[in-house]
Amino acid sequence: MNNRDDKKSFTRRSQQWFGKLDKDGFAHRSWMKNQGHPNDLFDGRPVIGICNTWSELNPCNAHFREIADFVKKGVWEAGGWPLEFPVMSTGEVLMRPTAMLYRNLVSMDVEESIRGNPIDGVVLLMGCDKTTPSLLMGASSCDIPTIGLSGGPMLKGRYKGQELGSGTGVWQMSEKVRGGFMKIEEFMDAEAGMHRSKGHCMTMGTASTMASMVESLGVSLPGNAAIPAVDAQRYRLAQLTGRRIVEMVNEDLRLSKILTRHAFENAIKTLAAIGGSTNAVVHLLAIAGRIGVDLKLNDFELGSAMPNLLDIQPSGKHLMEDFYYAGGLPAVLKEISHELHADAITANGKTLVENVKDAECYDRSVIRPLDNPFMANAGITILRGNLAPNGAVIKPSAATPHLLQHRGKAVVFETIEELHERINDESLDIDETSVMVLKNCGPKGYPGMAEVGNMPLPPKVLRKGISDMVRVSDARMSGTAYGTVVLHAAPEAAAGGNLAFVKTGDMIELDTKGRALKLEVSDADLARRKEGWTPPKPSMDRGYWKLYIDHVLGADTGADLDFLVGKSGTPMMRESH
Ligand code: FES
Repeated sequence: MNNRDDKKSFTRRSQQWFGKLDKDGFAHRSWMKNQGHPNDLFDGRPVIGICNTWSELNPCNAHFREIADFVKKGVWEAGGWPLEFPVMSTGEVLMRPTAMLYRNLVSMDVEESIRGNPIDGVVLLMGCDKTTPSLLMGASSCDIPTIGLSGGPMLKGRYKGQELGSGTGVWQMSEKVRGGFMKIEEFMDAEAGMHRSKGHCMTMGTASTMASMVESLGVSLPGNAAIPAVDAQRYRLAQLTGRRIVEMVNEDLRLSKILTRHAFENAIKTLAAIGGSTNAVVHLLAIAGRIGVDLKLNDFELGSAMPNLLDIQPSGKHLMEDFYYAGGLPAVLKEISHELHADAITANGKTLVENVKDAECYDRSVIRPLDNPFMANAGITILRGNLAPNGAVIKPSAATPHLLQHRGKAVVFETIEELHERINDESLDIDETSVMVLKNCGPKGYPGMAEVGNMPLPPKVLRKGISDMVRVSDARMSGTAYGTVVLHAAPEAAAGGNLAFVKTGDMIELDTKGRALKLEVSDADLARRKEGWTPPKPSMDRGYWKLYIDHVLGADTGADLDFLVGKSGTPMMRESH
């Protein structure tokens, strides 16, 4: 056994537990031996934590125990010792009020699980939307060698001969039902056709966007983003990931060497090139905050002139399976490689640009060339103005082009419940020129910044065959959703932002070209409206909800908890016995 002497400096973090000759060392080894581990596993070989977000309550990650087995094979092969551990799994479809409320909680679970245990390197198993940022945030605060592995998207949905994209198809069909264009029986029948295999949402929603961010940041092996969950290649990648993390520990290739400013800039440009979800904005800001990169909301403008190369839902028509067959993210990165920082190192030790130099595209109808993009200037745009002094975001590629410049009368909903109560009321004074405003759905207000920003349209507008209106809120929007939707307005209403003081009938101007969102109410009038304002009372005032509401930061900085920003590394903790 290496270094089994308290006076020596330990070569491995895990040897601070397993390399000691005293009663603590005995305890650490002896209890672990109850799982049948032989003596030589404690000899100083890299101990690899496999951080697993498996849960039957999170269907997108329900296959992660199989994936973990392949990671373990790779770790064993490379001479490491894999130890799988669970963390809270936030499934997007079941968790209420929103999985985002728990992103920061999971990041704490991950951080403390890594720091408190004899782990030298970690593999992050990520899939459903929030499981990716929460694991990356927690691991960033520890900063040990880390590699990411996504669970992969589901196969394409199919119903009555038509392809169906998860999320996007639901929004489309539910609006058809509300507009009287689809029967409720057909709507319910489509459920089983939409989700046919293991994996996460198969549009370029938040999960696929974040898997692409993992790859473009350099945290995973090449090809991670698009391989379907049920393709054998996903399991091969898992095994190779297991092998590689052992080498990363031996090379001391820590997360902070990969997650540099240049890596984030590469990710922002990739986000634009794939027409990725607006949710990546808030997640990348939070991850950067943990690792210590000074990323700002305006930095996302780096991608604003980038074209969207992917004809994929929700902006286009194809699905992640098609993206994989067309060459996956490496083919996109190759196409934009002249825009990428050539020095950004990735998990395999090579640079992002080196990794994709031989990448090929096999289907130009899915991955378009730079000189014939799917959409020009498609990056996420940051808006400012008196309605969002700290910023708001819009995804022009998911919007109706003529609505990107629009002036209309506000129709205000104070809460999501009020919206649901009133939106179907035929007497509601609203038409397609109105600007729908939803308050109190930000980080503090909801709480957790729910994906409700793509408000349903009033049936009387839908019946005219109109499927989009300008909508403004402090909420987020599902990555699978679409529309001319201004999101993440900051400061949020519940923090006393001007959004709280908009009244029905006020004029609002959206000027996407000019990066402006303006409420046509004078500062003096806004100040008068603000007099005596108090924040809304949360429906629960204890436990994690209270901690979250008291400490969550604005969407413009990533909605992390104020005391979690930054990292503490992995200093040796005091003994437990
Ligand atoms: Fe899990 Fe979409 S619901 S990725």
